Amino acid sequence: MKRFSKNLDTSRSHPIRFLMCPPDYFEVVYEINPWMCVERKVDQLKASCQWKALYEFLSAAEGVKVDLIDPVAKLPDMVFTANAGLVHKRLFIRSQFRYGERKGEEPYFEKWFRRKGYITKTVPQPFVFEGEGDALLMNEELYTGFHFRSDVEAHDAVAGYLKKSYFALELQDRRFYHLDTCFAPVSSDTAVFYPEAFAPYAQLTLFETVKDPVEVPQQEALRFACNLIAFEKQIIMPQGCPQTASALTDRGYEVHQLDFSEFMKAGGAAKCLVLKI
Ligand code: ARG
Repeated sequence: MKRFSKNLDTSRSHPIRFLMCPPDYFEVVYEINPWMCVERKVDQLKASCQWKALYEFLSAAEGVKVDLIDPVAKLPDMVFTANAGLVHKRLFIRSQFRYGERKGEEPYFEKWFRRKGYITKTVPQPFVFEGEGDALLMNEELYTGFHFRSDVEAHDAVAGYLKKSYFALELQDRRFYHLDTCFAPVSSDTAVFYPEAFAPYAQLTLFETVKDPVEVPQQEALRFACNLIAFEKQIIMPQGCPQTASALTDRGYEVHQLDFSEFMKAGGAAKCLVLKI
């Protein structure tokens, strides 16, 4: 039986793969979340250095491969590849963005994944799905965030494609508009999150299902402490989050704090810049 198409590199030497998009056209020219303000200009040189630092760190990490998609002019948020969709094995569930400003990204991501041999799916219209921004796998469990961006109806379809049940978490603070701004699975037991970003019932769900919760204080949540990348025993997270960093160090993780100041102007940090593929 042919399981994978030729283009799908599943080589064992790179069990962890991420997709990134160079920030050539990254800027803040519209406002679709409370962090974005067109008057707060992005320093493009700084953004490019910050992106490169992340790219180089990941590329040099053992067992990690970073794939790139070409950036497209006039699609400044394409750099946030976490929102392209959700990948599970050889399936790519493509996003359907809430705002017209990002809809233009959809065909480019779709094309890239098709070319690589993935099976692509979309959620039923008119529902919104913003990929890993609002849907994260913790081990085998699927956690989804809804309210500001993705629709819970879309997550129902996503869970169906993955043949999984899921925990639907309602978000309640606009500043934490995507799940990955306030929740990060780190291992099968440990997850980092900022409880107040979630509606009361969702907070309960998190405390009941996450064996080892790392609660993030508000001032660090506002510095995107939860928007971290975790693989093996490595964590990449934004600077200025000492409490969260030491909680993770205490658990045996190697924590690397990088600067994402320019991307925060658009409402994103470490995690938003990568999609697990
Ligand atoms: N400006 C982008 C937006 O509002 C930021 C996306 C951040 N991505 C994420 N996965 N949280 O859509």
